[in-house]
Amino acid sequence: MKKIYFGTNLKMYKTIRMTLEYLHYLEELTRDIGREGMELFVIPSYTSLERAVENTDRRLVRLGAQNMNWEDEGQFTGDISPVMLKELGLDLVMIGHSERRHVFRETDAEENQKVKAALRHGFTALLCIGETAKDKAYGVSAEVLRTQIKIGFSGVGREEIHRLRVAYEPVWSIGVHGIPATAEYAEKMHREIKKVLGELFGRDGLEIPVLYGGSVNLGNACQLIVQESIDGLYVGRAAWEASAFDRLIRESMEAYGNQTTE
Ligand code: PGA
Repeated sequence: MKKIYFGTNLKMYKTIRMTLEYLHYLEELTRDIGREGMELFVIPSYTSLERAVENTDRRLVRLGAQNMNWEDEGQFTGDISPVMLKELGLDLVMIGHSERRHVFRETDAEENQKVKAALRHGFTALLCIGETAKDKAYGVSAEVLRTQIKIGFSGVGREEIHRLRVAYEPVWSIGVHGIPATAEYAEKMHREIKKVLGELFGRDGLEIPVLYGGSVNLGNACQLIVQESIDGLYVGRAAWEASAFDRLIRESMEAYGNQTTE
């Protein structure tokens, strides 16, 4: 059975209390879903991480951070280092979310330093990529994704690819004003992404899970997950109620053909 991936980034929304409540419900609701057929991860705010780690069964829900500096320590006021996240015992680190790239002006070269730092410290690195509406209008989406992947994963060895994940999130599809990509468009871009991963890492590169994100909801999740090159869904708003996320996961798994109970 091929494993499918479901994740959510809580962005800058939930407080510690809200995060713990959310994780508790999500864990309870999804407890009966066999994890050999799916992986579930949640990325809370920094302030919630320590309590989240203490209170979550990580066999059921993996936990990650939304960002990280690449240096172990230094003069980087306001940033968090991999050593600090390691101390918490997190599973994964998200790198290069669209809001980091576009609001905070992070570059591909910086994302690459973060990917390498994450791997050096034993985290799974979730690299987010995606073209803007302008890139799409100019017809350079595939080229932009290729650049983001090639620079983002530059210097990463084949032996590390089991700790890589990619989230493809077209910038124009994210958030309240986002327009979700059609399943056909998403599949086409996922194929391009897999092609680049294959060029970089050989056949094993095709094993790197590539998740689709950007306005995923109950209405489009099933069409997306059944696409051949989509290995999972990275969900924002539609996942922030535990019961809604549980339903989205179950419906997607059913559409995909994976059993939801052991
Ligand atoms: P959204 O967010 O599902 O609310 O569009 C997706 C994301 O930013 O990862």
